[in-house]
Amino acid sequence: MPKKFKFFVNGERVEVDAEADMPLLWVLRDKLGVTGPKYGCGVGVCRACTSHLDGEEVQPCVVPVSECQNKKVTTIEGLANGEELHPVQQAWVDADVGQCGFCQPGQIMAAVALLKRTQQPTDADIDAIENMCRCGTYPRMRTAIKAAAAMPPQKPGGGKPTEQPRGNGPKQPAAQQQPQQTTSAPKPSDGQSSGGEEDSGTLLDGIGSAFG
Ligand code: FES
Ligand code: FES
Repeated sequence: MPKKFKFFVNGERVEVDAEADMPLLWVLRDKLGVTGPKYGCGVGVCRACTSHLDGEEVQPCVVPVSECQNKKVTTIEGLANGEELHPVQQAWVDADVGQCGFCQPGQIMAAVALLKRTQQPTDADIDAIENMCRCGTYPRMRTAIKAAAAMPPQKPGGGKPTEQPRGNGPKQPAAQQQPQQTTSAPKPSDGQSSGGEEDSGTLLDGIGSAFG
């Protein structure tokens, strides 16, 4: 029996009707159109979906939406401060990290979480990130994380909760809808929900939101 869940996604209040055990990733991608977090394995292993819940790194494919009530979800789409990229995003651009791009939103969210925990991470700290990259961009990611660690922190701003609900609530003006992404994302192989649609966006969108 679907229930109504209310929480925040990238500073915007959302309301969704969903089964309590529906994974947050399904809700983000299929109900809210937030496609930065990627569907890879669906069982918390590949970490392509990595996002933050109340500031902590999570894999939303294994977080039921019922655990998100009144909490703050941050995805790659919510990292930049307006036009200003987060230092980790900027470092990713500078180091030209991405290859196919599929894993990159999750990698960046994991790197942001690492730099929150450890301001000057060692190679061992960086290598402890478990996000998979089938393109083997690990050396460039290491370079980017070290560069981001040396950058000034992101200026505060943005991400404030609004009073306008999204999701299954009343229709919102077009300006409040999530942008579509460009490259295509792999489809779930087991016919389950989430991640089925084509994404689109520019290279910068890739750093900011999708890469696929
Ligand atoms: S860990 Fe979430 S899709 Fe693989
Ligand atoms: S850049 Fe292709 S999977 Fe990581």
